[in-house]
Amino acid sequence: MNELRAFDLAAGDPATWRITEDAFDADAQHHSETVFTIGNGQLCVRGSFEEGYPDDHPAAFMHRVWDDMPVSVTELANLPRWWGVDLWFDGERFRLDAGRLLAFNRSLDLRTGVLCREVRWEAPSGAVVELGFERFADFSSPHRAAVRVSVASDRPVKVRTRAGLDAHVENTGLLHWRVAGQGADESAAWLHTRTRNTGIDLGSACAVTLDGVKADAAAGGADGVPTVEHTFQLQAGRTATLTKLVAIVSGIDAADPIAGASRLALDAAAAGWDALREASDTAWRQAWERSDVVIEGDQEAQLSLRFSLFQLLIAAPRFTEHASIGAKTLSGFGYRHHVFWDTETFMVPPFSYSQPQIARNMLMYRWHCLAGARDKARANGHRGAQFPWESAGTGEEVTPTWVPDSDDRALLVRIWTGDIEIHITADIALAVMQYWQVTGDDAFMRDHGAEIVLDGARFWASAARLESDGHCHFRNVVGPDEYHDRVDDNAYTNQLAAWHLRTAGTVARWLADNHPGRWAELSADLGLDASELAQWGEVAEAIFNPAAPDGLLEQFAGYFDLTDVDPAELRDPARTTSMQQLYGIDGIAATQVLKQPDVLMLAYLLPELFPGNALARNYAYYDPRTDHEHGSSLGPAISAVMACRAGEPEVGYQHFLRAARADLIDVRHNAGDGIHGASAGGLWQAVVFGFAGLEVTADGWHTTPMLPKHWTRVAFCFDHHGVRQRVVVEA
Ligand code: BGC
Repeated sequence: MNELRAFDLAAGDPATWRITEDAFDADAQHHSETVFTIGNGQLCVRGSFEEGYPDDHPAAFMHRVWDDMPVSVTELANLPRWWGVDLWFDGERFRLDAGRLLAFNRSLDLRTGVLCREVRWEAPSGAVVELGFERFADFSSPHRAAVRVSVASDRPVKVRTRAGLDAHVENTGLLHWRVAGQGADESAAWLHTRTRNTGIDLGSACAVTLDGVKADAAAGGADGVPTVEHTFQLQAGRTATLTKLVAIVSGIDAADPIAGASRLALDAAAAGWDALREASDTAWRQAWERSDVVIEGDQEAQLSLRFSLFQLLIAAPRFTEHASIGAKTLSGFGYRHHVFWDTETFMVPPFSYSQPQIARNMLMYRWHCLAGARDKARANGHRGAQFPWESAGTGEEVTPTWVPDSDDRALLVRIWTGDIEIHITADIALAVMQYWQVTGDDAFMRDHGAEIVLDGARFWASAARLESDGHCHFRNVVGPDEYHDRVDDNAYTNQLAAWHLRTAGTVARWLADNHPGRWAELSADLGLDASELAQWGEVAEAIFNPAAPDGLLEQFAGYFDLTDVDPAELRDPARTTSMQQLYGIDGIAATQVLKQPDVLMLAYLLPELFPGNALARNYAYYDPRTDHEHGSSLGPAISAVMACRAGEPEVGYQHFLRAARADLIDVRHNAGDGIHGASAGGLWQAVVFGFAGLEVTADGWHTTPMLPKHWTRVAFCFDHHGVRQRVVVEA
């Protein structure tokens, strides 16, 4: 191992930077739409075709543009369709479900975020046309995106193009927009829409040009669909290129978003495609210099890790501290863009280590949401800040109480997580502490982080009930393993609560000693005094911690009494569904099968609680009982780290592959709903904390590598207290 050797981040096989597809499969189109999502940290667009396709799920989302719907649906409104381009050849509309598809190729360049598609298509009339599509969201600016379409034909054809903006979009059947205005001329179109319930104004604009031929241009469009249309005669062997430069601005970002979007689109047109690409490429280069992780000896591992990082980079709030990354990023309708513990526990760490400013934005989102968390605590009869299980624009709880059963949509299933999956408050505090430890960002901690940690601790102290056995218990909770809900004394919840309370004491002392002015202000604001701090320490000590014979911790009270399942059944390669689908909700709850690591999640986050052989003991017990293949997508990456810590990197590698394939191979048949963001962040953790074994301590950092046999080298950077560190681990 040579930690000081510099390395070339751009080195390596170009194939490890490119996601490709060389055939179109209509049955897999939703999966492909997710995989080919592009974006810039403000807006993302799924890989839906410019011309559309029957039953596609076209969608683009932008941070902060939330809309509410009756029956408590809060979600980001699908943006007016800005990437659409319709084409006709001799009067026949170009569409892949008509004519004959002669060749198809799609590729996403992860280095630049440019999505390309090449199509050779035989129109029903017999003309063979070559089409090239390119699109990107400008990574250097929150508001700009660009689409380019080139067409050529083997014989003279009359071509008509229509490029514009379309307000008639839906979120799986829900309509979020009213049209407030529109306009178009021969070179540009604009649209003013307003969300129906939250009243957010959105300005969308596009400047459209056509090069390579002489064309007639005209403004067009129906209600809510302003367009620019071109008609021209295309000679055989000539290429015509349509360029559409788009700007989208919301009323949250500008006083006059409509004028703002129009101006940005016209400026973009004046600058031109190449200038936009250059600005965007430069921003991407800077991002990859910080975020890339090189894996040598394993092309699949390398490509999937870069893909995961790409998906996080395009969804991460790079331009605002009022948004965070939802469980399915900005790439689909799944979980309605809500922010879960997935964010702090799985997605924030890669940013804390390599792009701290983005991690800070994500933690600041929680700070801005403190009012919602306080309301939730109050509504439950508690004090302090209780973060919601699912969070949207304001930080109030937005978890649905009932959802349709996935097998029988007529049945409703009660969802308990919003009521009782309370560990998220400690998960957020842990992310704050981890960010602080690696960045040394005292100013954030002083002004914001301490408040999150302290008011969260107050929630735990007020929710803990001292019982006659002298212990504080948390009853009727859900731990990370959601196959078992409404349990008592979940070890993960109890121990993280105790950790949070103890940590709050340390943070309070640090603030009082180092920033007495801020401490005076914050403790006055919160009404916090020494006796309450002392009481937190007492509660932490009193929280029930079950006796652990041989160091084996019971996941929750009564877990060991549940039916054990033959591990061979869990490992059956023929199984294609989750154990919960096989056994039913109540059936699986009666067994010891886990949806995802729970005690081992605790061991992952707080290893100091598992001294000596306790880690090996718990790993040996819980890992075989986990539904790795079809349970939660959050699990495999963590299982990979735990396997490394248990000295089994090859087993860890099998888990790593499960996480790596969560989206690129649609293992759970739900990638069409959006990227599994936690799995993507977990993949980085599996490599950096697992195989490379990076550990940051109070004294600095070190690595304890545990590479799979065929990996020859892992290299990455991270910022330690503002100083870039380069880590190279070699076999
Ligand atoms: C997992 C949770 C996760 C949620 C959102 C559930 O299936 O069990 O841990 O927070 O999905 O990804």
